[in-house]
Parts: sequence; structure tokens; C-alpha cells
Amino acid sequence: MRGLTTLQAMALGALLLCMIVAAGVLDRRFPLPGLVSRLWRRLRPPSETIEGYQHPDLVDVVFRKASAYIARGEWPEMVGVASVLDFGGGFGDHYKLARLQSPNIKWAVVETPAMVARAAELCTDRLGFFSSIATAAAWLGSVEVMHSSGALQYTPEPDVTLRELCGLRAKRMLWQRMALSTDRLERDMQSSNLGDNGPGRLAGLKEKIVLYERTKLPEQIFLDAHKGYELTARGTDWFHFTLQ
Ligand SMILES: C[S@@+](CC[C@H](N)C(=O)[O-])C[C@H]1O[C@@H](n2cnc3c(N)ncnc32)[C@H](O)[C@@H]1O
Repeated sequence: MRGLTTLQAMALGALLLCMIVAAGVLDRRFPLPGLVSRLWRRLRPPSETIEGYQHPDLVDVVFRKASAYIARGEWPEMVGVASVLDFGGGFGDHYKLARLQSPNIKWAVVETPAMVARAAELCTDRLGFFSSIATAAAWLGSVEVMHSSGALQYTPEPDVTLRELCGLRAKRMLWQRMALSTDRLERDMQSSNLGDNGPGRLAGLKEKIVLYERTKLPEQIFLDAHKGYELTARGTDWFHFTLQ
């Protein structure tokens, strides 16, 4: 078979470019399948960068996604649980799933001041948002479970926050999506696309790069902080402890 002429190759290239641009424009209105959307973003990375979990654009995107999020599925660890302190629990996505297992569960989210302010309209007598661990614990009365998913590494002093959370003496401590180091404290800047924050996808979003500072505690320091707890299960980035 003969190769393409220069003219045919140029026409094919132009057609491909039109398809990619159309995909990008469409993606602003209707979320496209992940692969097409990822390809578009790789070819045309966002030009604007924002920083930190309290940036208003990030708070707004996560809030709008969380409002549309419908939880489905099972969470065996939450069956029969009465009270949970959820450190870094966003706008209560984990609560939505936990409530399917235990409808009367009382849930206190500890978040940044910007997230707590935006969450005001979500508060009920069963779901509260707090910017300090102590106030969240006082509102709960007693903390049966401490839960935290992918948050400790984004706090300015993870060792201090860890000690405070272990000091609650919750019956169980459930850590998910942890970033720990092997031997020494590691700090780096992590980046993500704005649209990848929060559950699901959002149409009409102007994509930006989000930067966050991340601090990884050494795993041994993390484990040693749980004095009086037994490590009952673990994976590479998750840990379950039970008070002895
Ligand atoms: C990667 S997100 C995880 C959100 C959610 N827990 C999840 O698993 O999808 C990290 C969360 O930690 C929160 N966060 C960051 N710094 C915090 C701090 N100092 N105190 C409480 N929450 C914080 C962020 O606002 C964000 O909601």
C-alpha cells in the first residue's frame, strides 16, 4: 500500500486537531469519558495555578460536587456505629455512605476554616463541621470511631495533629489513603487538576492546576503514636487500630 501524500497527511492532521478541540469544548458543557478528557488535558494543560485547600475555587468545586454526590454501597466498619470524628472529611461524602449503614450515626467533620464556613448550610443535628478537633469531640460527646482519609499529610504539623487525634481515645482509629515515608520527614508540593478534586465530574469547569504542600511522617512515628492501641489490620496506605 502506498503512503499518504503530504496533502492527505496535512488534512488528516487538521481533522485530528479539530476533533481534539471539539472534545475540549464539549468537555466544558458535558463531562466526557475519562480517557478523552485526560487526553485533552494532556495536550492542553491549564495555564492558571492556585494554591492550597482553602482556595475559594477549590472549595467551590468540591462543594458543588459533594452536593451532587449520591453514596451507594457497603461500609462494614460503620455498621452499628454511633459517633464518628472524620478528620479532613470534606463536605460529608463519607457521612453519606456511613448513614446508609447506620441511619442515626452522629458525624463530626473537622475541616479547614474555609470548608467549615461553606458547610454551614449542610449542618444538621447528626452532621456537624468544625475547625478544631476539640470542638468536634465536645459536640459528639464521646468519639466511638476516628476516621480520616487522605488528610493528615496536608496539615501543617501532622505530628501534632496525629497526637491530638490519638489522644481522643476513640475505640477505633480508621486511617485511609495515608502518605507516610519510610524513615525521615518528607515535604513536597503535590499538584492536581482542579476538576479531579471532590467526588465525580463537574460540567462547565475552567480547569486549573492546584498545588498543595504535603508532609509525610515516617511510618514508625505514625505507628508509635498509637500507644494503647492494637493494629488490627493494615494495607500499604491504610491502617485500622482498636483500643486495647
Ligand atoms: C485529599 S482531600 C481528602 C478528602 C476526603 N477525606 C476524601 O477522602 O475524599 C484532603 C482533605 O483534607 C482537608 N484538610 C487539609 N488541611 C486540613 C487541616 N489542617 N485540618 C483539617 N482538614 C484539612 C482538605 O480540606 C481536604 O478536604
